[in-house]
This record gives sequence, C-alpha cells and structure tokens, in this order.
Amino acid sequence: MLVRNMTEADVEHVARLWWQSWHAAHAHILPDTVVKGRGPESFWERSRSLIGTARVAVSSDNRLGFHVVREDQVVQLYVAPAFWKRGVGHSLLGDAEESLLSQSHRLARLGCYRGNNRAHDFYQRRGWRRTGTFVEHACGKDGQPIPLAAWRYEKQLLKDPVDCAKY
Ligand SMILES: CC(C)(COP(=O)(O)OP(=O)(O)OC[C@H]1O[C@@H](n2cnc3c(N)ncnc32)[C@H](O)[C@@H]1OP(=O)(O)O)[C@@H](O)C(=O)NCCC(=O)NCCS
Repeated sequence: MLVRNMTEADVEHVARLWWQSWHAAHAHILPDTVVKGRGPESFWERSRSLIGTARVAVSSDNRLGFHVVREDQVVQLYVAPAFWKRGVGHSLLGDAEESLLSQSHRLARLGCYRGNNRAHDFYQRRGWRRTGTFVEHACGKDGQPIPLAAWRYEKQLLKDPVDCAKY
C-alpha cells in the first residue's frame, strides 16, 4: 500500500469510497434529513475540490481510503468499507500525523460525530484523547443547516522541548 497525493484520476474513486464510507459510519447515527441529503452527487462535487490537499491510500489500482489535513486538524479520514480492518486507516492516520508534524504542529486535533463508536475506538487506540464536544452544522435535504453534536479529539504529536536553561 502506498499513500500519495490525490490526482485528477482519483476523483471518481475517492467520491465513491467517500459516499460508501460516510453512509456506513453515519446512516444509523445521524437524522434522516441529513442522511437523505448525502446522495452520491454531493460527494462527486466535493471530491474534485480535494485535489491539492487530500492524500490517497492506493494498492494495485484500488483506492482504499483518503485523508485531508488542514492547519492543525485531520479534517477527513475515510476508508472504503470493503477495506476496513486491514490497517489502511492506521497508515492514513500515520501519514496525516507526519504531515501535521512536518508543518510544526505539536498538538493535533480532529472531530467526529457523536455516536461514531468505531472511529472513537480507532482514535483512542492510536493515542488520541477525547477532550470535549462541539456543534457541527450539517446541511439538511432542504439546504437548512442542522446542528449536530460532535466529539473533539486531540493528540500530542511531540512533547514540548525541555528548556535546558532551567536545569
Ligand atoms: C475509522 C476508520 C477510518 C478505521 O479504518 P480501518 O482501515 O478499518 O482501520 P485499521 O484497519 O487501521 O484499524 C482498525 C482495526 O483493524 C485491526 N486490523 C488492522 N489490520 C488488520 C488485519 N490485517 N487483520 C485484522 N484486523 C486488522 C486493527 O488492529 C484495528 O483494531 P484496533 O482499533 O483494535 O487496533 C474506518 O472504519 C472508516 O473509514 N470509518 C468511516 C469513516 C469515519 O468514521 N471516519 C472518521 C471520523 S469522520
């Protein structure tokens, strides 16, 4: 498996896996009005806008998953359900953390909708700590913003350097 920058040739594949993975994770925990508003076309449009920021996990022409980091946050992390539990998420999250570190972020942040227990377990086991909740506004079927509870996570990527002058 290789994790590399997303290209134009990935757009359709990323859209499909994002759509599948988003529904597998959220259809049972989010209100119907939000879930019904997330048809395949909404992921096709947004997928193209990820070129330049997303990194994609690839194996023999299969697109397995992707992540997006922005500032100090992992803002997207999705693995195609057919490839769950094979270490793809682990590789993608590791790549995302390296990318944040290379931009000198010592404390990384991310969020996921409340009730996404698979993601919660996954993050906890990789050293991320739940630090609170916040409200994320999702778009309903009629275009109205719908407030949804989300969990906030943080991970210390690198300890603050010891100030040797003090000792
Ligand atoms: C959460 C998510 C990213 C995890 O991705 P994943 O590829 O399944 O993650 P991994 O395979 O690296 O790890 C999952 C488990 O599979 C296990 N695993 C890894 N390789 C394995 C293998 N070859 N055989 C069996 N199990 C394996 C891991 O040990 C891990 O278990 P652990 O958490 O107890 O350590 C994925 O489920 C997903 O895309 N969910 C939907 C989107 C989502 O919720 N995103 C995050 C919030 S928006």
